[in-house]
Amino acid sequence: MSDRKDKHPALRPPTAVLTRGFDPSLSVGSARPAVFRSSTYVFSSPEAAERAFAVMSGREQRAENETVDLIYSRFNHPNAEILEDQIVPLEKGAQAAAVFNSGMAAIMTSILTVAQPGQQIVYTVPLYGGTQHFIHEFLEPFGIRGTPVPAGDGDALDEAIRSTGNLAVVFIETPANPTMTMTDIRRAAVAAAGRGDGNRALVMVDNTILGPTFQHPLDLGADLSLYSATKYLSGFSDMIGGVAIAADGELIRRIRGRRGLFGNILQPDECWMLDGRLPTVALRMNRASKNAQRIAEQLAGRKEIRKVYYPTLFDDAEQIRIRTAQCDFPGALFSVDLYGGKPAAFDFLRHLKIARNAVSLGGVETLACHPKTTTHSSVSQQELELAGVTDGLVRISVGIEDWRDLLADFEQALAAIPAEAGVGQLRSGS
Ligand SMILES: Cc1ncc(COP(=O)(O)O)c(C=O)c1O
Repeated sequence: MSDRKDKHPALRPPTAVLTRGFDPSLSVGSARPAVFRSSTYVFSSPEAAERAFAVMSGREQRAENETVDLIYSRFNHPNAEILEDQIVPLEKGAQAAAVFNSGMAAIMTSILTVAQPGQQIVYTVPLYGGTQHFIHEFLEPFGIRGTPVPAGDGDALDEAIRSTGNLAVVFIETPANPTMTMTDIRRAAVAAAGRGDGNRALVMVDNTILGPTFQHPLDLGADLSLYSATKYLSGFSDMIGGVAIAADGELIRRIRGRRGLFGNILQPDECWMLDGRLPTVALRMNRASKNAQRIAEQLAGRKEIRKVYYPTLFDDAEQIRIRTAQCDFPGALFSVDLYGGKPAAFDFLRHLKIARNAVSLGGVETLACHPKTTTHSSVSQQELELAGVTDGLVRISVGIEDWRDLLADFEQALAAIPAEAGVGQLRSGS
C-alpha cells in the first residue's frame, strides 16, 4: 500500500490525507480502507518470503517502487501501512511514521531505539507524568541517566546539552503540560547539532498538545515528533494510540524494528479508526483553539483566579518570542490557578455541568482535571514546584461545543466556590 504514496507528490495536506497511501483496488474497490484483521499473510512465493524478512530486518533495502510481501501483524499490516502513509502529510517536513498502541509506547520505543545503558537523556520539566515516571522508574534503573531542565529555560537547556557526556536524547514537551510553558525547539536542535562529539543526540518533541496542526518540530530541526494519538489525532476520547514521525526514514525503520520486538504496534481496528479521523484533525483543532482562546481570555479577569496559563496570555517576553516563532495558533488547552488552593479547585470541578472531570485532553468534548492529585500525582514535590503545578491548578481541555455555553459553565462553577475556599483567601492575602 505504501508503494503508491508518490502518485500525487505535490498535493496539499488536506488532500493528501484523503488520497495518499490507499489503493481501492487492494480493498476490493472499497472507497475507504477496509479493516484487515489477519495475524499472518500468505507469501506469493518462498523467495518473496525470504525477501520480505530481509527487508523487514534491515539486512536488505526495499528498491524504489518495489512491493514487498506482508509477513505478520506484529511487524506490519495493511491498516498500519495505510495510516502511516496518510499521517505523513499532516506533519511538515515528515518522510515516515510508525504507529503504536499508546502514546507511551511511541515514547518508550523511540527512546529505547537510540539510547543504550550508560548513555544519558536531557529532558524538560514538566513532562507528561507518565513520561517523567518512565524516566525515573525505568530508564534510570536501566542505566540511562536523566537530567531535568526547566521548560522554557533556553540557557539551561543549552548548557545541559553541551555538558552532558554520552548524550543520546534531548526530550522536549512543548508546550509543557499543564502550565503551557514553551521551549525553543530550534534552539535545542542547534545545540544538539553543535555538540561536535560525532555522536549527535537526537531531539525528540512530544507534539501532542499543538501538533500536527499548530506546531511543526521537524521543520524546526527536531529529529522526531511524538504523539499520544489518544488526544487530538483521534479526537473522540474513544481509543488509545501513539505515533512517531520523522524526516529520516531510516530512523523510523529502526523504530519499527524495536516495535516488532516489543509487540506494541497499533492493532488493525484502531488503525482504521484513527485513519478515519485524520481528515478532520485540523478542523477539530482549529475550532477547539478558537473556543479556548475566547474562554481563557474572558476568564483571565475573574476574582477567583490567580493566573490563567494560556499562550495568548503569556507575560514573559521570551515566552512570547517562542510562541510567535514556533506556533501558528495557541491551541485548546489552558490551566487556571485558583486562589483557594485544593478546596477551591475541587469545588470548581464538582460544580461543572458541561465540562467533565476527567484526565486526558484533545477530545471534541471539554474535560477538566486537577493535575497535582491525578496526572502529576507521582511527580516529586520538588519537580512539581519547579514546574509550577500548584494545589489550586485546574487543567482544562476545551472541546468543540459552543464556547458561550462553556464560558457560562466555568463562570457558574467559579461563582459556586464558597468564599472561605476561594476569594476570601485572596482578600486575606494568601
Ligand atoms: C502530552 C502527553 N504525552 C504523552 C501521553 C501518553 O499518551 P497515552 O496515554 O496515549 O499513552 C499523554 C497522555 O495523557 C500526554 O498528555
